[in-house]
Amino acid sequence: MSESVHMKAYRACLLYFLPDAEPNQAAVFEDDGLLVVGPNEQGLQVVQAVGSYQALQARFAQVPVTHWPGRIIAPGFVDMHSHYPQTNVIGSPADGLLPWLEHYTFPEEKRFADPEYCAKAASFFIAELLRNGVTTALTFATSQPCSVTALFEQAQAQRLRLITGLCLMDRHAPADLLNQKMPHASVDATEQSLLDSEALIQRWHGVDRLGYAITPRFAPTSSDAQLRGAGELAAQYPDVWIQSHVAENQAEIAWARALFPASRSYLATYADFGLLRERAIYAHCIYLNAEDRTLMSASGAAAAVCPTSNLFLGSGFFDYAAADEAGFAYGLGNDVGGGTSFSPFHTMLAAYTVGREGQSKTGLSLSPQHLWWQHTAGAAQALGLEGVVGNLQPGCEADFVVLNPQATPLLARRKALANSLDELLFALIVLGDDRVVEHCHIATS
Ligand code: GUN
Ligand code: ZN
Repeated sequence: MSESVHMKAYRACLLYFLPDAEPNQAAVFEDDGLLVVGPNEQGLQVVQAVGSYQALQARFAQVPVTHWPGRIIAPGFVDMHSHYPQTNVIGSPADGLLPWLEHYTFPEEKRFADPEYCAKAASFFIAELLRNGVTTALTFATSQPCSVTALFEQAQAQRLRLITGLCLMDRHAPADLLNQKMPHASVDATEQSLLDSEALIQRWHGVDRLGYAITPRFAPTSSDAQLRGAGELAAQYPDVWIQSHVAENQAEIAWARALFPASRSYLATYADFGLLRERAIYAHCIYLNAEDRTLMSASGAAAAVCPTSNLFLGSGFFDYAAADEAGFAYGLGNDVGGGTSFSPFHTMLAAYTVGREGQSKTGLSLSPQHLWWQHTAGAAQALGLEGVVGNLQPGCEADFVVLNPQATPLLARRKALANSLDELLFALIVLGDDRVVEHCHIATS
């Protein structure tokens, strides 16, 4: 076949997910598999075929094969929530979210007024995601437009699939970190933040593998006018994402309730301003009630579960059983720098711990394939990117990781005793980190 000159094939163990199966039973593992990639009509490298080597070998006999014996090819990880300007504050202890923001996070974010500082931080952040096997990320920038531009430019250069946006924050934060008014301009800072957001949507949304997210930081740091404007932008650009935080911490919730007493709940505040819809991603979603969960599923909004952050800041435990009962979408995020690691393995392990906690809610023993799904196919689905990333189905962009299940002596020892797929995946989740990620392949164009 003539297209075969542009194709490449990779032979190794394969891990991927059946698109319509229950997350607990969705994983497929090929002991000796073949992944064939090649350009789609737009010239972007996508999966052309996936399956057992025996079954596919003859059909792709002309395609050059790279063989990785003993390695596992798996979908690149999809991370639903992080903050690129917070790389330097990982591991900063505080008495919970609000003091942590005040003492560590806001002072660091102020430094992103300098475009050079932004570019260096963005370059490091993206390289660190890729080194850990993350190939798609939804992340916060800061309230300075140059922080957004720098991140898009670096993602474009390193080919990460990235969604970000200008952090909307026009009150209740240090004055020099609030959205700024232009000197001599007739519009105020709130209006300017919305104009800047729209200009960034027009410049970046849909360019290469980049997407824009309208980004009110959280309700307490936005005025009614800013939230209203953000909701109007979200209606005007329905395929643009929305990202924010909700129901993470008790003090935060009390503050949000006091500022927006007319709303039924903290989550309902966002609904009241038109900010709950498909492609709206809310980090944390810990303290939701039944009505809130129904609102999540009815609106098509999704939760970014951030377990290392929730454990580190002592925020609480995401209720998986209640989320499944309500039927809203969710996936995992590292939430760096409240979160403690760039590694999807660490995040999946923390998600297990959070799910297992049974004192404050129903404790579930989430299966390792469910945890893995939450950081790949499930996260892609929650972002509205099912069939685009997060899996190795034909048509998915060719983002994949090559994992070495013998990367450390302990992992090799434990892996040798694994008697099932779930045991193998659990060994990787519990004992794995960046040392396991031997190679991170990004779709070329
Ligand atoms: N809520 C508002 N801002 C933040 C932030 O930067 N990190 C976390 N974890 N929660 C937030
Ligand atoms: Zn966050």
